[in-house]
Amino acid sequence: MRPSNWPYPYWIAHRGAGKLAPENTLAAFRLGASYGYRMFECDAKISRDGTVFLLHDATLERTSNGRGIGGDWDWAHLSLLDAGGWHSRRYAGEPLCSLQGLSRMCLQNNLLLNIEVKPTPGTDYATGQAVAALAARLWEGQPVRPLLSSFKPLALEGAQQSAPELPRALLLENWWEGWMNSAAALECAAIVAQYALYDAQSVKAIHQAGMRCLCYTVNQADHAQALQELGVDGIITDRVDLFAPDHAPGRL
Ligand code: G3P
Ligand code: MG
Repeated sequence: MRPSNWPYPYWIAHRGAGKLAPENTLAAFRLGASYGYRMFECDAKISRDGTVFLLHDATLERTSNGRGIGGDWDWAHLSLLDAGGWHSRRYAGEPLCSLQGLSRMCLQNNLLLNIEVKPTPGTDYATGQAVAALAARLWEGQPVRPLLSSFKPLALEGAQQSAPELPRALLLENWWEGWMNSAAALECAAIVAQYALYDAQSVKAIHQAGMRCLCYTVNQADHAQALQELGVDGIITDRVDLFAPDHAPGRL
């Protein structure tokens, strides 16, 4: 039995626009939207002074001109970094994005979010709490609120504690012992698994538990076709240039 109240589209753009723009920046979400995407995955963590901002890695080096652990700096420092120059000249000077900044763009443009809680190591529970509390406030009264996901059960527990009304999803890169019980205890609306994990049996078990099956990160048409045939409920992709998001499942 699948829950009927699933308000999210099938196609979700990974980190904004995959690799076509600097990940997790406003420029990336704008580019993804220009390809017709209406929902975006992003990676959120907290700065030293409690601002929720977007950064995939724990450290700044790969995707900005900053140094060290992102969560060790105040937002006043982080917000002045160049998070676009590493990608290409065209995006040089693009700043890091706060969740509040992204929420403004999403709400103004009818765009939806899957916020992956990506805690700085050692801060799982507090990060889940902070991200969920802020998301609940920013999207208060909105018809469709963000889907919060995490590989870290403790982060989802923090989210469950501070904003139980926001939908949660457990991210899985393997079927670790007890994942189904954990997802049930966290009252998850969905599982978001590495796409190669799915088979008919796992899709059926997740649906029977009343959850949706989402998958990451699908970048090839034959993989997407196979997942659609298995009956997954959503696909996260980098390839906003390959997959047209208004295509219904089975009509790649
Ligand atoms: O949320 C799906 C996917 O983004 C999880 O992996 O490492 O790309 O954040 P990662
Ligand atoms: Mg992610």
